[in-house]
Amino acid sequence: MDKILIRGGKSLKGVVEPSGAKNSALPILAATLLAEGESCIRNIPRLRDIDTFTYLLKHLGAQVTYREVEAGSETQTPWGDHRDPERRSPLPLLYVVTDSVNNFEAPYDLVRTMRASVLVLGPLLARFGRARVSLPGGCAIGARPINLHLEGLKQLGAEITLQHGYVEAKAGRLKGTDIYLDLPTVTGTENIMMAATLAKGRTVLQNAAREPEVVDLAEALNKMGARISGAGTQTLEIEGVPHLTRLDHTIMPDRIETGTFLVAAAITNGDIVIKNCRPEDLSAVIAKLQEAGVSIDQPGPTSLRVKRDGEIKAVNVKTQPYPGFPTDMQAQIMALMCLAKGSSVITETIFENRFMHVLELLRMGAQIQITGNTAVVTGVPKLSGAPVMATDLRASASLVLAGLAAEGETLISRVYHLDRGYEQIEEKLSRLGADISRIKDKG
Ligand code: EPU
Repeated sequence: MDKILIRGGKSLKGVVEPSGAKNSALPILAATLLAEGESCIRNIPRLRDIDTFTYLLKHLGAQVTYREVEAGSETQTPWGDHRDPERRSPLPLLYVVTDSVNNFEAPYDLVRTMRASVLVLGPLLARFGRARVSLPGGCAIGARPINLHLEGLKQLGAEITLQHGYVEAKAGRLKGTDIYLDLPTVTGTENIMMAATLAKGRTVLQNAAREPEVVDLAEALNKMGARISGAGTQTLEIEGVPHLTRLDHTIMPDRIETGTFLVAAAITNGDIVIKNCRPEDLSAVIAKLQEAGVSIDQPGPTSLRVKRDGEIKAVNVKTQPYPGFPTDMQAQIMALMCLAKGSSVITETIFENRFMHVLELLRMGAQIQITGNTAVVTGVPKLSGAPVMATDLRASASLVLAGLAAEGETLISRVYHLDRGYEQIEEKLSRLGADISRIKDKG
């Protein structure tokens, strides 16, 4: 297994660009199952989770091919000019053809590796009238049941049974209805929204998730001919249509990767510009960092400049569904708070076990006390590099950030967690001046 070695203490400087958003690309890949024809997805991030999802699509019988577009040859996109000479990596395009789908099962081995595999449930059921998807087990960060996905699909008319660890779903044409979600689940909203696009009649989904990735998916579905309104609000209205057509869509920039770069600049006393991002998706994160004394400006509509001048002040953070502070940034801001002046209280309200990074941060000299879903972080003057272990995606990011700021060497093992969600992280950080390298597993 690869490891990442960081020699801390370098201030990050320069320009960086986030990749396409993982959590938007995954449901949009699932959406290609809803229609025949060759769908083209642009700005797809090259990540382990995307590879797992394309593997799943192939397993179902789809054809999936990557075509690389030379850097500089892409046209303007809504959030930036990809002809920008700063862009060093090619813009990947992914083509998916689902005409030949003849298998309706997401097997245990795939769902176990990546829970987002459950996103095929709604599309398969809506287009083919059947799906068999392994029930995901628990996860490092929490129990993460999918009862609300299943309840919503049942209300649309699906017959759902649980057998041998699998969700077996069957339906004729689904029927639009009013659905209220007990919690604004992100992938649950996406699964139900995708299924409802092909239902007969109108679906009103109340207490829907408002995350930007849900909006990106709704926009993609509307390009396929769906009739969805209200995306980004708590009420989605979906007027069902008999069929959808192929998709051509550019994935939005990854807001969590963007937020991670914001913290990277702050924690290293750096000064960086993040280009081709969507600042409006990060209001809560930007507000918290500014409250902590980090200087963040918006030189243009799709760029951010982040600079640290003085000391970091301790701030309290509570994770919330969007537009609140994202749980996917909790571990990263905790790394920053480890070096703040004073004590900060960090409350995790989305997942019940998302403090796994704390034990590793303690090994680097942090002072953190956990009580239930609250961590009290007392800032220390410095962290010291140590061998640490990544436990999940965002926990890994927080260890990278802590390592960038720490004195001496930090060796992070199990970086496959990081590779699930951060594209070329060590290349991007090296270009900003970090001393970071990957030690390849020889085995
Ligand atoms: N929940 C239920 N029942 C359900 C669904 C969810 O009780 O049927 C609970 C969960 O257990 C959790 C809460 O509702 O306590 C919110 O979970 P949600 O369903 O919104 O999370 P998700 O859809 O499984 C997505 C992202 C996560 C991100 C969360 C919260 C994708 C593929 N995953 O997960 O991303 O943390 O929303 O914003 O979109 C990550 O990228 O590192 C990551 C974990």
